This record gives sequence, C-alpha cells and structure tokens, in this order.
Amino acid sequence: MNSDEVAIIKKTWETPMATPTDSGAAILTLFFNRYPSNLEKFPFRDVPLAELSGNSRFRAHAGRIIRVFDDSIQALGKDGDLEKIDEIWTKVALSHIPRKISKESYNHLKEVILEVLTAACGLSESQVQVWDKLVEHVNGIIFKAINDDGDAI
Ligand code: HEM
Repeated sequence: MNSDEVAIIKKTWETPMATPTDSGAAILTLFFNRYPSNLEKFPFRDVPLAELSGNSRFRAHAGRIIRVFDDSIQALGKDGDLEKIDEIWTKVALSHIPRKISKESYNHLKEVILEVLTAACGLSESQVQVWDKLVEHVNGIIFKAINDDGDAI
C-alpha cells in the first residue's frame, strides 16, 4: 500500500471511528440480515434480528471488529506495519478457528464492511478500491492461518 493509499484509509476511517460501536453494529446488522446463518455461531443466536442492536454481546463483537481494524489502521504507514497487521489478524484467525468460521463468512463480512463504509463515508470508486485492497489483505492473512491449521474448516 503506497502513502497515498494509506492516507485515504486513515482519512476515511475517521468517520466510522466517530461512533465506533454504532459503526460496528451497522456492519454486523447488515451481515446477519443478509447472511443469517452466521448468527448460529453467537450466544445471541435466539435474539430476533430486530432486537439485536440492543444486545450487549452483539455490541461487544461489533465494537471488537472496529477496534481490530483501528489497531491495524493506526499501525499503517509506520515501521513494521505489515508485520504488525499480520500479527493482529493471525491472532483473530486463530481465536476463530475453534468456532469454525468459514472463508465464505469472512468474504461475506468483507462485502458488508465495504458496503457500509461506502455509504457512511461517501467513498468514491477509487477509494472503495483502496479499502478493498486492505480488507482483501486482511482476509489473505486469515485464510493463510486457516490453511496452515490443516484447513480446519
Ligand atoms: C474479520 C473480522 C473479525 C474480527 C476483527 C473479530 C474479532 C473478534 C474478537 C476480538 C472476539 C473476542 C475475542 C475472541 O474470542 O477471539 C470475537 C469473538 C467472536 N467472533 Fe469474531 N471477529 C471477526 C469476524 C467474525 C466472523 C466473520 C464471525 C462469523 C460468524 C465471528 C464470530 C465470532 C464469535 C461467535 C465470537 C464469540 C462471541 C461471544 O462469545 O460473544 N467473528 N471476534
């Protein structure tokens, strides 16, 4: 990622970070509405979709997703950024392997993240491409960890 791309990510990320948990909740709400089978992995699986936004475990996962992206985006552009991002996302992948989250779920989450950010930040076509590159990189790290685990999923 070149310095222009890093600047685009950091600048556009300010909008969702103004209200981090709400931004994460918007992403997860669309994710579960569009791909409801993912709900089955969560302790709030029996909560109706319309009531999810008030559920504390739901809000916790929403906030965590944003937090992990924020840690990665803070690291971007600094010395050792790629190693740091690799470390952050390998940790996420390893903690999720026992939960048997499929690659398809991560791809679906990526699609939803890009859609919510595009709407929230009013991203241009070229800005969407920069975000796509970042989230694709993240998914690459997760998929490598899944593959190294002997394709556990
Ligand atoms: C790619 C972005 C994601 C990030 C940054 C992320 C982050 C986290 C974190 C930090 C935790 C809590 C600590 C832990 O146990 O590992 C967690 C828990 C969890 N994650 Fe994710 N996650 C992501 C994607 C997903 C996806 C796609 C699923 C699919 C269903 C998922 C399912 C879960 C479940 C079921 C838990 C346990 C929740 C609970 O017990 O309340 N995660 N996640």
